[in-house]
Amino acid sequence: MMENKNLVEVQNLQQYFPVAGGKLFEKKVVKAVDNVSFGIKKGETLGLVGESGCGKTTTGRTLLRLYEPTAGKIFFDGEDITKVNMLPYRRKMQIVFQDPYASLDPRMTVGDIIGEAIDIHHLASNKKDRQDQIISVLSTVGLNSEHANRYPHEFSGGQRQRVGIARALAVNPQFIVCDEPVSALDVSIQAQVVNMFEQLQEELGLTYLFIAHDLSIVKHISNRIGVMYLGKMVELADSYELTFHSVHPYTKSLISAIPIADPETSRKSKRIVLEGDVPSPVNPPSGCRFRTRCPYADELCAAQEPEWREVSTGHFAACHHLDKVN
Ligand SMILES: Nc1ncnc2c1ncn2[C@@H]1O[C@H](COP(=O)(O)OP(=O)(O)OP(=O)(O)O)[C@@H](O)[C@H]1O
Ligand SMILES: [Mg+2]
Repeated sequence: MMENKNLVEVQNLQQYFPVAGGKLFEKKVVKAVDNVSFGIKKGETLGLVGESGCGKTTTGRTLLRLYEPTAGKIFFDGEDITKVNMLPYRRKMQIVFQDPYASLDPRMTVGDIIGEAIDIHHLASNKKDRQDQIISVLSTVGLNSEHANRYPHEFSGGQRQRVGIARALAVNPQFIVCDEPVSALDVSIQAQVVNMFEQLQEELGLTYLFIAHDLSIVKHISNRIGVMYLGKMVELADSYELTFHSVHPYTKSLISAIPIADPETSRKSKRIVLEGDVPSPVNPPSGCRFRTRCPYADELCAAQEPEWREVSTGHFAACHHLDKVN
């Protein structure tokens, strides 16, 4: 059940990474996430989409403080956690990674991988309790006690991602960043794993930030969806509203990119096909960062950054030319 209170919130979140190169003593940075603000309600799934390199993973990791934010504020359940010791929050805020091959230690058994999470947070009172917890969380993700003694390489991709999910769940989190958790899996099992995330949410009352390249993966699981482009949030709305009544030209281009065989995709709106690649986040375009690929761009877009504003209730976008576009 979704509540009306934010469990997680970021305000003007910024993550600049220093980069090598450039002239001597010249400090260059990658503006991976630049002034992004959103909240995620208790029990909600917020989808986060955008092309490779637009800052989705950095947003997810920074809000967990796996990276220290360059600027901005992070709140969890009403507490400002921007500067606090994260240990007590690590248990409440977990992450499931994109690549279950790279994120599980190949030298550890599945039981040890899950047990390690339980140990770090002192969640077991004795050895038997620990073992019971491991088996219980394995069964939650559709695996069994025999799997505890096996190594990650003995599993299929889908099973391995279940292990990654079990590791996150082992510490009873309230919030999980799901960073493209099905992108590395066979298309045939992606839906299974997405359904499992949905079921777990219902049973355990979890809150998700669900990251994907592709709108078609997140539109069903998400209550709302945010769209990022080159470190900026460009549009945020209810999932249905975003799918059928998007207002930003970049979102429209993403929707145009969903294969036409998808019967639920609206084809009433104009088709926008983007040319060129995403510019470098080290030296992003002035004004609106999307302007170099936007069919509607003019001088205003180069001169001035568009304001993030509410275009209808709960529907936000940043674009100078919403009238022309829509
Ligand atoms: N640790 C880091 N140090 C320096 N630059 C980084 C670091 N992590 C990410 N970046 C850069 O920040 C930008 C955003 O990267 P990020 O991984 O957040 O994008 P993404 O949207 O998750 O992409 P993908 O869809 O490929 O996973 C990219 O230009 C990337 O090269
Ligand atoms: Mg990523």
